[in-house]
Amino acid sequence: TGTVTLDTGFTNTASCESAITYIDGDAGILRYRGYPIEQLAERSTFLEVSYLLIYGELPTAEQLGEFTNKLGMHTMVHEEMRRFFDGFPRDAHPMAVLSSGVSALSTFYQDSLDPFDPEHVEASTIRLMAKVPTIASYAYKKSIGQPFLYPDNSLNYVENFLRMTFGVPATPYDIDPEIAKALDMLFILHADHEQNCSTSTVRMVGSSNANLFASVSAGVNALFGPLHGGANSAVLEMLSDIEAGGGDVKSFVNKVKNKEDGVRLMGFGHRVYKNYDPRAAIVKKAAQDVMNRMSGPDRLLDLAMELEEIALADDYFVSRKLYPNVDFYTGLIYKAMGFPTPMFTVLFALGRLPGWIAQWREMISDPSTKIGRPRQIYTGAAERDFVALEQR
Ligand code: CMC
Repeated sequence: TGTVTLDTGFTNTASCESAITYIDGDAGILRYRGYPIEQLAERSTFLEVSYLLIYGELPTAEQLGEFTNKLGMHTMVHEEMRRFFDGFPRDAHPMAVLSSGVSALSTFYQDSLDPFDPEHVEASTIRLMAKVPTIASYAYKKSIGQPFLYPDNSLNYVENFLRMTFGVPATPYDIDPEIAKALDMLFILHADHEQNCSTSTVRMVGSSNANLFASVSAGVNALFGPLHGGANSAVLEMLSDIEAGGGDVKSFVNKVKNKEDGVRLMGFGHRVYKNYDPRAAIVKKAAQDVMNRMSGPDRLLDLAMELEEIALADDYFVSRKLYPNVDFYTGLIYKAMGFPTPMFTVLFALGRLPGWIAQWREMISDPSTKIGRPRQIYTGAAERDFVALEQR
């Protein structure tokens, strides 16, 4: 009660207090728990960053070892769960399979479902971090008709995921450590981004005291959409379309400016950043490095850079403060690494997972948390009397 203010899309409404991630959108600054994203991307690892986000501090060597060992004990999924994948059609989108898989975890682990029991919270945290890469790789294997590989805990987190995704039982899988490192770095860049659509969804679902698996599964579904995590796939489709149409970047930009068929420059613009997305700057450099290593010069990378240059010099984009966001160059890297387009958003989900978990845990332990329940401005009919069917 009281005055209700309309704020469609929550552009100016804080839904919580949080000590996890700091963004200054005008200055292009992103920090996790105070640490600048540039330093973490260059010097840390995804598991360290996950620990930092979830538990609040960078781990000591001993804490990191313990965390890694705990994850190692849970990388396999329940054998019955492997059968779930038989039921999905082969052309199922891997994000749909992933969210179903995450949701299904709550059917197996009755000892991980109570949001107010610290042991349950910890067990669901470890299980999610350990099993989501396995579920993600199975979603991919299913789509190409190859057998699932069991995890190999002698490998690190990202190497293990790469092997389960690209390895086959018949041949030893040769891991390229530079590629694994690049993917690890991309996961760091995606690990948290305060109250974005999927994270707000995780918190919203969790605010009803739903368990962590249910909440994160909802987050995966929110990330699926093309305006959010789906943008990385949409960028690659956009670049491929431009190339197929003869590579005319200028006329594509004109189409965007004229808002023809509602077409947008995917991978551009952000609700919070009104400056260069600091993650995009790091990704752009990595794209050039990975491509040089994997596949040599790439026509789509050239097109992306041309598109960026034209857009950043155009008043339409300048006046609206539209800059490349994290999704603009990531798809090109994922493609060079061998991932098919539908898997791109799954990679985003793998990276965002520790952020979702950290935010859910922060919400659950915050005594000021209330169930998420926005108000509305009613615009429907005023009171009127029911009319019997025969009189309508
Ligand atoms: N291309 C062309 N015009 C755009 C774009 C774009 N990518 N983004 C915003 N605009 C225009 C929009 O048409 C509007 O113009 P006008 O004032 O003339 O109507 C103005 O800029 C403001 O846009 P908005 O839609 O009100 O801004 P928003 O804060 O609601 O949307 C956004 C943010 C990210 C959804 C939007 O910029 C967008 O659709 N971008 C393309 C999709 C994308 O790359 N998403 C990834 C976001 S970053 C990572 C993630 O969350 O996954």
